[in-house]
Amino acid sequence: MRVLQQTFTLANGVEIPKIGLGTWQMSPDEAYNSTKFALENGYLHVDTAVSYRNQQAVGKAVKDSGLDRDTVYITTKIPGEVKTYDEAKATIEQSLKELDVEYIDLILIHAPRPWQVMHDRPIENHYYEENANVWRAMVEAYEAGQLKAIGVSNFSIDDLEHLMATTTVAPHVNQVIYHIGRTNQELLAFCQNNHILLEGYSPIATGRLLDNQQIKAIADKYDKSIPQICIRYLLEKDILPLPKSVHEDYILQNADVDFSIEADDMAYLDSL
Ligand SMILES: NC(=O)c1ccc[n+]([C@@H]2O[C@H](COP(=O)([O-])OP(=O)(O)OC[C@H]3O[C@@H](n4cnc5c(N)ncnc54)[C@H](OP(=O)(O)O)[C@@H]3O)[C@@H](O)[C@H]2O)c1
Repeated sequence: MRVLQQTFTLANGVEIPKIGLGTWQMSPDEAYNSTKFALENGYLHVDTAVSYRNQQAVGKAVKDSGLDRDTVYITTKIPGEVKTYDEAKATIEQSLKELDVEYIDLILIHAPRPWQVMHDRPIENHYYEENANVWRAMVEAYEAGQLKAIGVSNFSIDDLEHLMATTTVAPHVNQVIYHIGRTNQELLAFCQNNHILLEGYSPIATGRLLDNQQIKAIADKYDKSIPQICIRYLLEKDILPLPKSVHEDYILQNADVDFSIEADDMAYLDSL
């Protein structure tokens, strides 16, 4: 079976297709065309967010793809700035409406803190209590069947531990930046030990790895492209990659990753 058809199984038994199409920095037209093309060519999973302002286009592409709703996996995200129970509830409703779906497969808290202060050090406010309130709204929608799984994004071990202490429903997913040269073994181990699926965003470092000569040497050895090595690198670690492209040939290429990387080459890529 091709990787595109394979799934990871979340802690609640839900199956999630192993490769998702990223849609950050896509205009609505680009998101519509890329999502529709991807779904017509074997992809079963798309990653959007309220803040990408393309949910409506993604929802329409899912409909127009002709695939049954229950075969397509849709992820969206509650903005990092949304930090109250009421706002979170309203945002879930907004996403259901914009995507024009009865349920959303996975919704994530986009970031533990508002983006404006996300990278401040030291961290002045961790937003532990606020995230617990947002989570409460998500759990309610999950238990009502509006959401099939719930998770977080950009959460550290500390953020995860504080959230998990407040709830009986632990996050099913943590979506974080993960690519060759930007790894986090400790977070990966924590998530895998707690049955939290790690999704790797920016697998090609938002394009910055495209001319990396060290990765190119490995790509040549396998007769693959740099993006294919980047995507396969995550799959070898059981991390779900979310490559983004607006080009049809790239979208196809990024899903053509049915090969494996040998252990010594993985060790070399780990060292970069
Ligand atoms: N949760 C979060 O906070 C967060 C943050 C960032 C990203 N994400 C998610 O992760 C997804 C992917 O991350 P990303 O958008 O940063 O970028 P990425 O997937 O690492 O890289 C995308 C860039 O690589 C190019 N590219 C893709 N495949 C290629 C190929 N086969 N050959 C040549 N160039 C190729 C794309 O070009 P073209 O588009 O021009 O084809 C684009 O410039 C996002 O779209 C989003 O869904 C989540």
